[in-house]
Amino acid sequence: MAIQKTLTTAPKPKPTDESKLGFGKIYSDHMFKWNYSEGAWHDPRIEPFGPMLVSPAMSVLHYGQEIFEGMKAYRRKDGGVNLFRPFNNFERLNRSAERMCIPNFPVETAVEGIAELVKADKDWVPGTKGASLYLRPNIIATDEKLGVTTSQTYLFYIIGSPSGPYYANGLAPTSIYVEDEYVRAVRGGTGAAKTAGNYAGSILAGEKAHKAGYDQVLWLDGVEMRYIEEVGSSNIFFMIDDVLVTPKLNGSILSGITRDSTIQLAKDMGIKVEEKHILLEELIEAQEKGRLQESFATGTAAVISPVGKLGYRDKEYLINGGKMGEVASRMYDTLTGIQYGEIEDPHGWVYQV
Ligand code: COI
Repeated sequence: MAIQKTLTTAPKPKPTDESKLGFGKIYSDHMFKWNYSEGAWHDPRIEPFGPMLVSPAMSVLHYGQEIFEGMKAYRRKDGGVNLFRPFNNFERLNRSAERMCIPNFPVETAVEGIAELVKADKDWVPGTKGASLYLRPNIIATDEKLGVTTSQTYLFYIIGSPSGPYYANGLAPTSIYVEDEYVRAVRGGTGAAKTAGNYAGSILAGEKAHKAGYDQVLWLDGVEMRYIEEVGSSNIFFMIDDVLVTPKLNGSILSGITRDSTIQLAKDMGIKVEEKHILLEELIEAQEKGRLQESFATGTAAVISPVGKLGYRDKEYLINGGKMGEVASRMYDTLTGIQYGEIEDPHGWVYQV
């Protein structure tokens, strides 16, 4: 599908100090837009980034019929720009669309659209390793109506935000608190979809953890509250003895692209990987017996984020002496090496813009 381009005549000044970018605070000059109405996606286009005029009755503002993705554009040493597994992100967005009753879109056009946006905003892609142009595809229900039924019209848009590490302290190990009052998702709910409500519902527990001095929440399953599901807005991995273990996808866990990449890269490294239901009590027992070697979270925004401390009720458990582990460190180097085009890409994950 041809993508129309209207470029800005008033480019904004670019950030001068990339060490002070923070995460998702400033936005590049352009955005991608694509409309759905009368049963079809139409008019994919690049426009200047700017406010959107919306009706106060717009359906998404009331019932949250919305889905999103998180992606990044990485600056290579030769000056070019890489995307990472963009087809996988848009395929997942289509799966989220099915759960949220939003019409599917052709993935090829979405990839073309994000590539055109990155081309238009090429100079907004930071040059420092660890920083990137964070890309946020979003689809919102735009009907002007208050009935709780599916919308007939949608807007798909993508914005870009030059960003540094998701956590202000970069790769410093995080502390997580086991949340045993609130849950993020239940089976049959929307946990496996990337949709706003999952994140809105998680904020209270996050605030509670912050007040108790922790960075993030460790989510347990919504049925028995005994099985480990996710951490904050990321997937979680544990190195127990010599096996890398992560919760098995069960319908309420998000199927992370970084999670999947980590599993494949660990196997490449000769590490045994198990996707399985992990009981919290089993994890604590492994920690007490000295079998829990290290733990880290994975996500597009956070990449690989080591976990140094686990809090549960009135107890605290240090993991790997509170330091980043060897597997996390190797995984971070390998994954970012591929993303920034510094090392070979054995799985064909990189998409050069
Ligand atoms: C990402 O890792 O890109 C996410 O979508 C998590 C987030 C909500 C910042």
